Amino acid sequence: MEEEIIGIKNAALSFILEAEDLKSLEETKIQFLGKGGKLTIAIKEITKLPVEKRPAFGVLANEVKQTIEDTITSQQEVLTKKKKSNLLDKIDVTNPGIKPALGHLNLVTQAIEEISVIFSRIGFERVRYPEIDWDYYAFTALNFPKNHPARDDWETFFIKEEANEKLGKQVLSPHTSTGQIREMEKNKLPIKMLNIAKCYRRQSDVSHTPMFHQFEGLVIDKNISITHLRGTLDYFVKSYFGKKRKSRIRPYHFQFTEPSFEVDVTCGVCFGKGCKLCKAGWLEMGGAGMVHPNVLKAGGIDNNKYSGFAFGWGIERVLMMREGLEINDIRLLYSNDLRFLEQF
Ligand code: FA5
Repeated sequence: MEEEIIGIKNAALSFILEAEDLKSLEETKIQFLGKGGKLTIAIKEITKLPVEKRPAFGVLANEVKQTIEDTITSQQEVLTKKKKSNLLDKIDVTNPGIKPALGHLNLVTQAIEEISVIFSRIGFERVRYPEIDWDYYAFTALNFPKNHPARDDWETFFIKEEANEKLGKQVLSPHTSTGQIREMEKNKLPIKMLNIAKCYRRQSDVSHTPMFHQFEGLVIDKNISITHLRGTLDYFVKSYFGKKRKSRIRPYHFQFTEPSFEVDVTCGVCFGKGCKLCKAGWLEMGGAGMVHPNVLKAGGIDNNKYSGFAFGWGIERVLMMREGLEINDIRLLYSNDLRFLEQF
């Protein structure tokens, strides 16, 4: 039986050393060391030996097994190196590489940049205020009564239940108008700010997302009138949508402006004639108005000397109203669907 084991060892070693690739090496391993392998079966024969011969046979069998395993391991290393160098021979390193696909700025970021440039041309300075703010800046200082529905939990995301004595609860900023009082508190007049920021509301449908962006203009100086507001609106509409589009203001109500307006722009499909998209020729862009005296007072500004106007519009909305874009669901802007994003 010892001779048989030695014979198996020699056969195994010559198979291993002749293996040309890792696959045939693995097959050799199974053939000799696997469950039904030649060495495994030969070792089981130990039970047929007289008891006194079994220890010596056991030692020999273990040595043979170890030698076979070691040889397989070193042959594996040799074959792996060979495989790698074969692969290198096949690669032409002078070939041009594969360029990774290049993305581009999201449509909303592009719009933010464009809108900032349009307003900077007429002297608006871009500002940034906290994304998480206090009830005071979001509502109270903007002339909202205590029980106004905008404060309702269904509309606004409150952060914590505990309220600060003066500032109230913390909220995810529901509109960019929170920046108005913060800007006034800087005590620097005149003011000509453009606040672009993320806003949050509990809303989600084809024209609303829970997170969206607004851009807010605030101008405060001596002798500011509705004419300045109209001129600024028209300048923006012509610069962003093109010369063919017109704007108009309609009476509306906001707590923090008096008088207040909603601003419309002529539809980019029918240019004011009326079509399926706009119905009566106009699309609503956002709110505007003359800053309410109570808001000026809350910001520490003398409302007898100074007046101002403000406007706040949704970035996503104005983007969707652009001629030729035809985005019919605002949520597409945030769906991360490349089939949509790659079109722009
Ligand atoms: C306001 O938020 C006022 N702060 C605007 C304002 C500023 C008025 C200054 C007067 C003076 P409103 O809730 O209507 O108003 O929102 C303004 C615009 O934000 C809307 O016309 C729309 O374009 C956009 N908007 C509002 N909610 C959402 C939403 N959930 N998803 C996407 N856009 C929204």
